[in-house]
Amino acid sequence: MTHQVRAVVARAKGAPVTVETITVPDPGPGEALVKVEACGVCHTDLHYREGGIGDEFPYLLGHEAAGTVEAVGEGVTDVAPGDFVVLNWRAVCGQCRACERGRPWYCFDTHNARQKMTLADGTELSPALGIGAFAEKTLVAAGQCTKVDPDASAAAVGLLGCGVMAGIGAAINTGGVGRGDSVAVIGCGGVGDAAVAGSRLAGAARIIAVDIDDRKLATAQRLGATHTVNSRETDPVEAIRELTGGFGADVVIEAVGRPETYRQAFYARDLAGTVVLVGVPTPEMRLELPLLDVFGRGGSLKSSWYGDCLPSRDFPMLVDLYQQGRLDLDAFVTETIALDQVEHAFDRMHHGDVLRSVVIL
Ligand code: APR
Ligand code: ZN
Ligand code: ZN
Repeated sequence: MTHQVRAVVARAKGAPVTVETITVPDPGPGEALVKVEACGVCHTDLHYREGGIGDEFPYLLGHEAAGTVEAVGEGVTDVAPGDFVVLNWRAVCGQCRACERGRPWYCFDTHNARQKMTLADGTELSPALGIGAFAEKTLVAAGQCTKVDPDASAAAVGLLGCGVMAGIGAAINTGGVGRGDSVAVIGCGGVGDAAVAGSRLAGAARIIAVDIDDRKLATAQRLGATHTVNSRETDPVEAIRELTGGFGADVVIEAVGRPETYRQAFYARDLAGTVVLVGVPTPEMRLELPLLDVFGRGGSLKSSWYGDCLPSRDFPMLVDLYQQGRLDLDAFVTETIALDQVEHAFDRMHHGDVLRSVVIL
């Protein structure tokens, strides 16, 4: 059997997205059919549409999603029809060197659904980040589904599938932020704000939010920033040092992805502190640093991929914290929209007052 559903498709590089009827097959071995309830609009979706990720058009966009499993294929035991799930980018193999060494987030052999979803004329779709959830139903690998508390709001918890997990995980998993630490977060968009929220969860005593936009700093405060620095007006390295007794922060999280903010993060950490790089630079970006500073300042420089998360461990835990009122995921949901408003959400993305537009299905 197949399912005909409405979905948001990017047909060609740079062209506005369209709402189309697509065909979704019944789940085969190891796959799950998910009835999507909510899916956030992420910069990466726009990046796909602009051809910045690949040339495998048409793309089925959407990847920060929660929904209910409608059917599962042969051999699937971890999730069952009726389960409320948050989707992740890819199922891990459990058998490669990375998986065996307890680092499944670096798995060499991740997979998505094997069958293809198609346009009405049979053209195969490429699902964004292996998900494709701006659709009433989508087909994923069962290992991309993590069961969470069904009473939680789909719009809020779906965001754990990408940017919010990247930020929280950068603080908790990669940065190892601990009780009493001082943390500085450079760039307070969705990812940086999530790093602020994660630092608060981890018990950081001081959380310094840095951005060039005062509206972003206000949201960061709502999520737990204890101090804010507008780096257009004030040198952030000086400000962070001043706010940390002259030392620098124990952990600095960079969530912009530019040479100048990488440099700021490098110099804003305490001697022997940790820099966590989350912002993704472009291939041509370069940063020159005196080697004596790299050597002399000690500590560590780490990059954080998908918040070093393990969905089966982290998603249910964070949903519980949300349900208990200890993690404000609602603060990330700026507006809820319909499927046909994704293009509009792309337009609004670069206005300072939008963290996430979330499509409700
Ligand atoms: N200094 C400080 N903040 C800056 C600067 C700067 N020079 N330039 C931009 N910013 C701020 C913006 O004002 C915005 O609040 O950085 C934030 C970036 O946020 P978004 O554009 O919403 O991006 P986000 O989704 O948070 O992702 C941030 O993390 O995962 C990566 O690919 C992602 O590189 C991107 C980064
Ligand atoms: Zn995303
Ligand atoms: Zn593996």
